[in-house]
Amino acid sequence: MTFQEQIQQGIPSQLPQPKPYETNINHAPKRKEILTDEEKKLALKNALRYFEPKFHAELIQEFKKELDEFGRIYMYRFRPDYEMKARDIAEYPGKSEQAKAIMLMIQNNLDYAVAQHPHELITYGGNGAVFSNWAQYLLTMKYLSEMTDEQTLTMYSGHPMGLFPSHKDAPRVVVTNGMMIPNYSKPDDWEKFNALGVTQYGQMTAGSYMYIGPQGIVHGTTITVLNAFRKINKEPQGGLFVTSGLGGMSGAQPKAGNIAGCITVIAEVNPKITKIRHDQGWVNEIHENLDELVARVRKAQETKEVVSLAYLGNIVEVWEKFDQENLRIDIGSDQTSLHNPWAGGYYPVGQSFEESNTMMAENPELFKEKVQETLRRHAAAINKHTEKGTYFFDYGNAFLLEASRAGADVMSENPTLGREFKFPSYVQDIMGPMCFDYGFGPFRWVCTSGKPEDMQKTDEIACQVLEEMIKTSPEEIQQQMKDNIQWIKGAQENKLVVGSQARILYADAEGRMKIAEAFNKAIKKGEIGAVVLGRDHHDVSGTDSPYRETSNIYDGSRFTADMAIHNVIGDSFRGATWVSIHNGGGVGWGEVINGGFGMLLDGSDDADRRLKSMLFWDVNNGISRRSWARNEGAVFAIKRAMEAEPNLKVTLPNFVDESLF
Ligand SMILES: NC(=O)c1ccc[n+]([C@@H]2O[C@H](COP(=O)([O-])OP(=O)(O)OC[C@H]3O[C@@H](n4cnc5c(N)ncnc54)[C@H](O)[C@@H]3O)[C@@H](O)[C@H]2O)c1
Repeated sequence: MTFQEQIQQGIPSQLPQPKPYETNINHAPKRKEILTDEEKKLALKNALRYFEPKFHAELIQEFKKELDEFGRIYMYRFRPDYEMKARDIAEYPGKSEQAKAIMLMIQNNLDYAVAQHPHELITYGGNGAVFSNWAQYLLTMKYLSEMTDEQTLTMYSGHPMGLFPSHKDAPRVVVTNGMMIPNYSKPDDWEKFNALGVTQYGQMTAGSYMYIGPQGIVHGTTITVLNAFRKINKEPQGGLFVTSGLGGMSGAQPKAGNIAGCITVIAEVNPKITKIRHDQGWVNEIHENLDELVARVRKAQETKEVVSLAYLGNIVEVWEKFDQENLRIDIGSDQTSLHNPWAGGYYPVGQSFEESNTMMAENPELFKEKVQETLRRHAAAINKHTEKGTYFFDYGNAFLLEASRAGADVMSENPTLGREFKFPSYVQDIMGPMCFDYGFGPFRWVCTSGKPEDMQKTDEIACQVLEEMIKTSPEEIQQQMKDNIQWIKGAQENKLVVGSQARILYADAEGRMKIAEAFNKAIKKGEIGAVVLGRDHHDVSGTDSPYRETSNIYDGSRFTADMAIHNVIGDSFRGATWVSIHNGGGVGWGEVINGGFGMLLDGSDDADRRLKSMLFWDVNNGISRRSWARNEGAVFAIKRAMEAEPNLKVTLPNFVDESLF
C-alpha cells in the first residue's frame, strides 16, 4: 500500500501483526498504577471501542498487557509502517489544503528526530501527547484526508469526535486537551483519566501540532540568556551558565548558550537523551566525572571559550560540587520537568536513573519523598551560590513551586503580592517586561514544501521586513528589533532545523502581520510554496499561567484564565486554520490554561484577509489585558495599536497616587 492509501484507510480492516517493543528508542516511563480493577475494565472497554467486535478477543489480551506493563494502552501494534516525518504538502492525500497542512504538522510532531517518546505519541515534556493511542492517530489522519473546506474536525483530548459541517472561514480543526471540571484537575486526576483513555496532557505545542523541535525554544532561550547577562551587567564571554535538562525544550539551552557566547554546564540524568543531543550537535561535550568537569570549566573561563558541557548525572551534584570548588556561577537556572515531578520529570539524587524508574512505578510514595528531599538539597546548594552573587531565575518549569511544596528554602523574607519567592521567574524579570508587554512573542512558520530554499527565502523576507520596520520603531522596542534581526541573519548558519523546515522569531503584532503578508505575496507570485504560521502557546496572549507567562501581572488577575479563553474563541472566528486550548502544559496539570493556532498561507486573498484580522487580535488581546493590569510597557503598546487601528478601542487603567493609602 502507498503512503496515501495507508492514510486513507485509517484503522486497518485486517489486524496488522503485533510489533515488537523496540528498545533502541526512547520510551515513556511506566506510569504509576492508579486504576482499580473495575476502572481497568473500563479502560479496556474504552480502548476496544475503536475496533470491530471480531477483533476484541485478540486485542483485549494485548491491551491488558500494555496497561499492566506501561500503565497506559498505546496500541503499539497499530503504529504505521511508513516513516514518520513531515512530507512535502503535495504528498498528502485529500480535498483540503488546510487539512493537508495539519497532517504535515501532526507527522512532524511525531517524527523520531523531533519527538521525545515517539512510540507513545509523546512529543516533549515527558507527557506532552499528540494522541493517547495509535487508533486516534489513524482515525484523525483518515478524517483529515477526506474532509472538505466546509467541515470542521473536533478533537477531544486526542480523540477525533468527527467531522461536522461548518464553512470555509471556520477552523478546519478545533482541539481541546485536558479540559477538566476544575475540581478534577489534580495531578492524580491526569494519571487516572489518562489511563482510562478519556483525556490527555497536550503540553503546549504537542497536542496542538505546533512543536518544531528544540529550535522553537532556542531563540527564546538565547534572548533570555542574553538579557540575563545584561541584567547583571556582564558580557556573556567567559561567563558561566549552569542549568539542567537536555530534553525536548531544555535541550535548547546549550545551543542558546553558545549563540549568546557563554560557557554552559548542563546536567542530564538520561544517557540516551544526552547522546542524542550530543549527536545532533546541540551540546559540545559530555562529561561523567565531576573533577574533570571542574577542570574543564576553569580552562574555558581562562580562555573565554564559548562551549557547552553536558554532565551525565544529577544537577544537584553539579551545584554542590561547584560550591565546594568555589567555582563562580554567573547565571543559574533549571529545566528539569517539574511540572511532572512524580512521573519522571525530576530525578532524585543518589540513585541511578534505572533505580528511579523502577521506584516511581513500584513505590511511588518513596519516590515522592526522594524527589522532595532532592529538591530541598537542590535549593540549599543554589542558595549557597546566590549568596556568592549568582543570578538565579526559575525557568517556568515549576521549580520554585515544587521546591516550596517540598519545604525547600525558596520563599522570600519580604514577600509582596506576586513576588512570594526569593528568586524571580524568567517572565517576571525578562520575558514579561521586555517582550510580552510590548507584544513580542514566539511567532513561527513552517515551509510546507519541505525545501531548504523556501526556508532561506522566508528568512530573507522576514529580515527585510524587520529591517524596514526598525527604521521607524520607537526607542522602547529597538533592542528587541535588533536582537531579532541579528537572530534571523544567523539562523541559517546555526543549523537549527530538526524535522520540518521551520523558523521562529520574536515579533510584535505589527511585525507578525507584515511578515505574514509578505510571505503570502511571495506564495501568490510562486516564489515559495505554502507556509504554515503559528506560535508557541508561551506567548503574549495565549497563556494564563500565574507562575510563568502571566507571572508579571500584579493586579491579582494572574489566577484567572479569561485571556486564554478569549484568545482561542477570538482566533477561531477570525480565520485560524486550527485552534487549540489546553489545561496543563509547561508548569503542570491544573496550573495553566493555554491556547494557540495554526494558519495556512496559500497565497490567496482569503489568507490575506484572515492573517490581518486574526494576528491583530491574537497579540492585542493579551496586550490589552497586560495594560489593564497597569504594566507600563503594555499601556504604551496598546496606545500605539489604537493609533494604528481606529477600530480598536481599549479600556485604559487609571493609576492611583500611592500617597493616598
Ligand atoms: N525552554 C523554555 O523556554 C521553557 C520555557 C518554559 C518552561 N520550560 C519548562 O522546562 C521543563 C523542561 O522541558 P522539556 O521539554 O525539556 O522536558 P523534558 O522532560 O523533555 O526534559 C527534562 C530533562 O530533565 C532531565 N532531568 C530530570 N531530573 C533531572 C535531574 N535531577 N538532574 C538532571 N537531569 C534531570 C530529564 O531526564 C529530562 O531529559 C518543562 O517543565 C517545561 O515546561 C521550558
